[in-house]
Amino acid sequence: MQINDLNLMKYFIGALSLILFIALTIVGYVEVKASKYEVRPYISANNKKCIDCHIKKGIGEGQVNDWKQSRHAEKGIGCIECHKADAKDPDAYKHEGFTIATIVSPKDCGKCHEDAAKEFQESHHAQAAKFIGSMDNVLGSIVEGPAAATSGCRQCHGSEVKVLANGKLDPDTWPNTGMGRVNPDGSKGSCSACHARHSFSIAQARQPENCGRCHMGPDHPQIEIYNESKHGILYNANKDKMNLSNPKDKWIAGKDYLYPTCASCHMSATESQPVTHDVGKRISWTLRPIISIKLENWEARRKSMKDVCQSCHGPEQVENFYKQYDDAVNLYNKKFGEPTKNAMEKLKAAGKITPTPFDDKIEWTFYELWHHEGRRARMGASMMGPDFTQWHGFYEVAKHFYTKFIPELTELDPKLAQEIMAKEEHKWKKGLSKEDIAKTLEYYKERYKQ
Ligand code: HEC
Ligand code: HEC
Ligand code: HEC
Ligand code: HEC
Ligand code: HEC
Ligand code: HEC
Ligand code: HEC
Ligand code: HEC
Repeated sequence: MQINDLNLMKYFIGALSLILFIALTIVGYVEVKASKYEVRPYISANNKKCIDCHIKKGIGEGQVNDWKQSRHAEKGIGCIECHKADAKDPDAYKHEGFTIATIVSPKDCGKCHEDAAKEFQESHHAQAAKFIGSMDNVLGSIVEGPAAATSGCRQCHGSEVKVLANGKLDPDTWPNTGMGRVNPDGSKGSCSACHARHSFSIAQARQPENCGRCHMGPDHPQIEIYNESKHGILYNANKDKMNLSNPKDKWIAGKDYLYPTCASCHMSATESQPVTHDVGKRISWTLRPIISIKLENWEARRKSMKDVCQSCHGPEQVENFYKQYDDAVNLYNKKFGEPTKNAMEKLKAAGKITPTPFDDKIEWTFYELWHHEGRRARMGASMMGPDFTQWHGFYEVAKHFYTKFIPELTELDPKLAQEIMAKEEHKWKKGLSKEDIAKTLEYYKERYKQ
């Protein structure tokens, strides 16, 4: 009996060990698999050639390792799949037995990502390098100088890439991943304007800082506006809960994450809308010109944006927001944009300023009024950044309108200045009523009494 018990015990311990062994092996296997999952690049024989030699010769090991952690690496999309070129491409060259190009254009990416490439080509983004003829270009390329445009304007907007006689890329035009870059193969844009190589991470593309690389500064401070909005504050406080790496159909506003980034409102999917690579699809006004106008089919575009808002908000919040936004744009347009634009046109027609931009003082005043301050007022209102609407926006507009533009106009054409100032909205300048003045005095007395 005792012996039997002992045998049973041995048997029991043996079985237990076996179970434990199997369990540990499974756990171990899962663990190994999980950690391998993140870095499991598939390297084909051809790609091994590129990688081995580049590492040996010291040609950017960083970019190889960056690629190794990408979704592409996992799927076996390696160096050659992207860099291979048609011998007829103007920038194609022979390289260690392969025909490749350094530039991987939207046309190349589009072979596998057709929708993204097509939508992108249809967007304003693809047109971003076309700025010859704009005031900004006169400023950058002539008033300042061509090197300023190469390292400044063109890094955001895109260059026209030229191939030199020796097959190398012209250093005046590349490196460059500006948004509307004109590529040697004729395609427009650069996907790595947003999808930094070689990780091509979707999480990085969704981060607001990604857009903020270009959408920033005195003339289009979208990232600054976003950061001061409630949306930006909540995003920054909850970055780790945003599920930024989810695939596109599992990154739905209000469901898979709760605080919007730039991409959420302008590009990403909702329950009823797919992802779009045309960033203009959901905006109704254009806030860039001297006077804002509504875009073609603006109602449909606005409806698409409202659909995004309503993933998280009720309809009244959304409708009322749009009323406040429209009112701010109309105020800027009517009170400041239209009269200053008309006055500048009349000055030019009458020969009181020359046709050359920026050679008259009032032209600088006018440019800053609409291009910097007037845009900030409108853009602040469009994306809930009240400090930009007010202190960096309407305040500066009003200050420079009344203390610079009108005095400078008065010197050139006093009658025109008077005509503008006679309008109802500028009458306050003739003096506020006694009651209004009394009110302000009373306010400070009351507020700061000891
Ligand atoms: C036998 C070595 C070797 C192999 C194989 C090789 N490369 Fe290179 N690669 C180089 C060297 C060295 C350079 C530096 C510039 C030069 O001398 O052409 C270079 C440069 C490049 C450049 C241009 C970088 C620049 O800044 O000018 C690209 C793009 C490139 N290689 C891609 C590839 C791809 C894709 C493959 C595989 C299909 C590959 N290479 C295979 C050695 C190699
Ligand atoms: C998903 C496509 C893709 C894959 C895969 C890819 N590249 Fe690139 N690579 C690009 C893009 C895009 C650029 C940017 C060039 C441009 O358009 O200006 C680039 C640029 C480069 C450059 C030149 C610029 C620089 O920063 O030095 C080299 C060299 C290069 N890649 C090497 C490689 C190597 C080696 C591999 C494989 C480990 C690889 N690439 C895999 C898309 C790719
Ligand atoms: C030869 C085909 C091929 C080419 C060329 C290619 N890709 Fe991809 N790409 C893929 C595949 C496959 C996936 C993985 C898709 C999946 O798992 O759903 C992918 C995934 C992606 C993702 C999503 C990554 C993530 O984190 O989820 C992005 C972004 C992307 N590619 C951008 C690009 C860009 C930009 C280019 C050009 C510079 C490019 N691809 C070129 C096939 C390609
Ligand atoms: C930091 C990146 C950056 C730099 C540098 C930059 N821009 Fe821009 N530019 C933008 C962005 C972003 C927009 C779009 C803003 C918006 O839609 O609110 C824009 C808008 C424009 C527009 C208006 C286009 C339209 O459709 O109305 C012109 C023209 C322009 N830029 C030309 C230039 C020139 C010329 C320079 C150099 C003197 C320059 N930009 C420098 C990022 C930049
Ligand atoms: C303005 C920035 C921007 C540019 C430029 C851009 N993308 Fe994207 N892309 C994004 C963002 C943001 C997402 C994530 C969308 C979401 O939330 O699902 C994305 C997602 C993707 C995806 C994965 C989801 C999908 O739609 O399959 C692919 C693939 C992709 N982009 C390819 C491209 C290609 C190819 C180009 C160039 C033709 C390009 N992108 C240009 C910002 C950009
Ligand atoms: C490399 C610079 C750059 C980056 C990065 C960038 N943009 Fe732009 N964006 C521009 C320029 C330049 C324009 C103006 C294009 C024009 O009209 O000439 C623009 C215009 C726009 C417009 C107005 C489109 C229209 O139809 O009027 C929207 C909206 C926009 N961008 C959103 C985004 C979002 C969202 C991101 C990030 C996911 C982003 N952009 C990333 C440069 C950039
Ligand atoms: C909560 C949603 C939301 C977020 C987040 C958001 N936007 Fe917007 N954006 C809007 C709305 C709404 C408008 C105005 C649309 C209209 O005119 O109908 C707008 C307008 C724009 C415009 C058009 C300006 C022009 O020249 O006409 C650009 C560019 C832009 N946003 C870029 C960005 C960037 C970059 C970020 C992130 C830093 C961002 N947006 C974050 C909702 C958003
Ligand atoms: C992914 C979810 C999400 C999306 C999409 C979204 N919002 Fe919000 N929004 C929030 C949250 C959360 C708050 C913070 C609520 C609070 O405490 O005021 C907020 C705050 C706001 C506020 C400030 C309210 C206040 O009381 O100060 C306004 C205005 C607003 N959103 C408008 C919009 C508009 C307009 C859109 C679409 C263009 C939009 N939101 C898209 C989540 C979202």
